[in-house]
Parts: sequence; structure tokens; C-alpha cells
Amino acid sequence: MKELKILIVMVILVLIGYWGIEPLAHSIMHKHIEEAIHKHNLPDFEYSDLEPLPHSIKGDPQRGKETVQMFCTSCHGIKADNIPAPMDAKSASEAYGVVPPDLSNQGALLDEKFLYNFLKDPAKATEFPKISMPSLGLDDQQIMDIIAYMKSIAKKDIDGKEATTEACGRCHSIKYQNFHTETPPGVLKTYLGKVPPDFSVIHRAKGEEYIVAFVNKPQALLPGTSMPRIGLNEETTEKIVKYLDEIADPNKEARTKIGIGVLLYMLVMVGLTYLWKKKMWKNIH
Ligand code: HEC
Ligand code: HEC
Repeated sequence: MKELKILIVMVILVLIGYWGIEPLAHSIMHKHIEEAIHKHNLPDFEYSDLEPLPHSIKGDPQRGKETVQMFCTSCHGIKADNIPAPMDAKSASEAYGVVPPDLSNQGALLDEKFLYNFLKDPAKATEFPKISMPSLGLDDQQIMDIIAYMKSIAKKDIDGKEATTEACGRCHSIKYQNFHTETPPGVLKTYLGKVPPDFSVIHRAKGEEYIVAFVNKPQALLPGTSMPRIGLNEETTEKIVKYLDEIADPNKEARTKIGIGVLLYMLVMVGLTYLWKKKMWKNIH
């Protein structure tokens, strides 16, 4: 019986070490991050610091298309509607500091309330005063029409890779996946003051909780940062984080499976050893 008690104590100690110490260490070493996440209640997919949508106004996709052709396609391409990018990547990035993203799927990637605020005042919504997307002086009806149009052309089942390259790929590369941003690093450095980090192993370096909160409100976690708030909706955020996890550690699933197998095997062996020992000692007692 003594051995069994020792075993139980060992198991409890290991479990405390596994589930107790790591989060404790995290909360001590990353205190300011934990505090910022708590203070701003991140991730905040309600975008509660932004103005509410004008719910009484209904957008019309057809009118939205005309408005987009009038105001947006001098900078943005829309592949889904056969509108090519107006400039090659090099000229576009030299003109704006970054290649303006294709608008085909932005209506599905971004939160509607964020998009409304972004089209009203890009610098305010992104919390990035230097943003090179201009404020175009659109009224609420025009904005709701544009949003209705962007939603109507967006793909419904975007996967994690597409979501990541379309929402982040104008700035971030993923070298291990052979994805290189179209904006040259030197140009990005001039525009943002910094070359955005490569995504290949960012999930391992920063962890899920941090990435989700950072993308949701960069200024809360890294005051003064030159990454604009992107305004992703919750679904897109989940897809992107899952994809970043998969590429940072492609063998994780297999390893977890093997790990469980090894633990089960050891458990069976411990049981057998115990029974065998009991049998051997039975006659001696
Ligand atoms: C003068 C060029 C220009 C015009 C005109 C323009 N944009 Fe942009 N837009 C940009 C640039 C540059 C960016 C990327 C800025 C960045 O990420 O720092 C951008 C980014 C965006 C984004 C991505 C926002 C995000 O959070 O990821 C959307 C959506 C967008 N524009 C929509 C529009 C729409 C809709 C119009 C027309 C009403 C428009 N843009 C007009 C240059 C322009
Ligand atoms: C307009 C360019 C731009 C876009 C678009 C962009 N980022 Fe960034 N990102 C940056 C810059 C610049 C930095 C470096 C910030 C710093 O160190 O201040 C950065 C840093 C980061 C970091 C590291 C933060 C840290 O603490 O070091 C993460 C994580 C990140 N970005 C995620 C994303 C994700 C996910 C997307 C897409 C949803 C995205 N970014 C889109 C420019 C961008």
C-alpha cells in the first residue's frame, strides 16, 4: 500500500508542476501584459471604443460597387470582381509605404463595425496616426453601401492560410512557407519605422493569448507600436491563430498522440509491475 501512496503523491506533484507553476510563472514574468489584457478586456470583438454602426441605414451592394469604383480602385485591386490592382507592387509600395490590400475578401475578414469606423477615419480606427489610407469624407449611406458590396463579393469559406496572407501579408512574410510580402522590407521600414517580424515561428515565440490580444488592440500591449489595428472579426482571428500554430509546430499533433500512447504504456507497465511484486512477496509475508 505504501508504494501506491507514494505513486499518488508523485502524480499530484507532477500535475501541480504542469498546470500550476507555468501559469504562475507567466503571470509574474508577463505581469504588464496580463494587466493590459485585463484592463482593456481583450480580445474585445465588440470594438467597444469605436462608434456604433448606424443601424437605421441599410447598405445597397450595387450602389456600393459604384462608390468603390469612384473612391477606392485608384489604390486597391478587387480580384473577385475582375478589377486588377492599379499599380504594380513596387510603385504602390513606394507611393503608400505598403501595398494596399486586395479588397475581395476584406468584407469577410474584418469586423463590420470596425470597417465602418475605418472608412470614416482610418487613423482613428487603426490607432495608427501615420496610416497612409486616406480619410475620404464618405457619408454613412456611402459607407454602408460599400460594406454591403464588400460582404457580397467575399468568399464564405476562407481558410487560415488565405486569411493570414490577405489580412497580414502586405507587411509580414512567412519564410518557411515560402510566402514573401510584396512590400519590400526597406519600404516597410521607412513607412513603419520597423520591419514587421516573420511569421514562421511567431506562435511559438509569442503564444496564442498574446497574439490574439495584440492584433485586437496593438497599442494596449505595445504602446507606440507601428502596427495598425487590423480590426479582424472573431472568426478570422481564430483561423489565423490556428494557422500560425500549425506552421510553427507542424508535428505537434503527432507528438501529442505519441505522448498519450507512451503515458498509457507506462501506466500499464506500472500496474503489471505492481501486481507481479505483490505476487512475489505474497509467500514471504
Ligand atoms: C490613396 C490610396 C487609397 C485609397 C483611395 C483607398 N485606400 Fe484603402 N488602403 C490604402 C492603403 C495604403 C492601405 C494599407 C494601410 C496600412 O495597412 O498601413 C489600405 C487599407 C485598406 C483596408 C484594410 C484595413 C485593415 O484594417 O486591414 C481596407 C478594408 C481598405 N483599405 C478599404 C478601402 C476602401 C473601401 C476604399 C474606398 C472607399 C479605400 N480603401 C481607398 C490605400 C488607399
Ligand atoms: C501595416 C503593416 C502590418 C500589418 C498589415 C500587420 N502587421 Fe503585425 N506588425 C507590424 C509591425 C510594424 C510590427 C512590429 C511592431 C513593433 O515591434 O512595434 C508587427 C508586429 C507583429 C507581432 C509581434 C508583436 C510583438 O510583440 O513583437 C505580431 C504577433 C503581429 N504583428 C501579428 C499580426 C497579424 C496576425 C496580422 C494580420 C492579422 C498583422 N500583424 C498585420 C505591421 C503589420
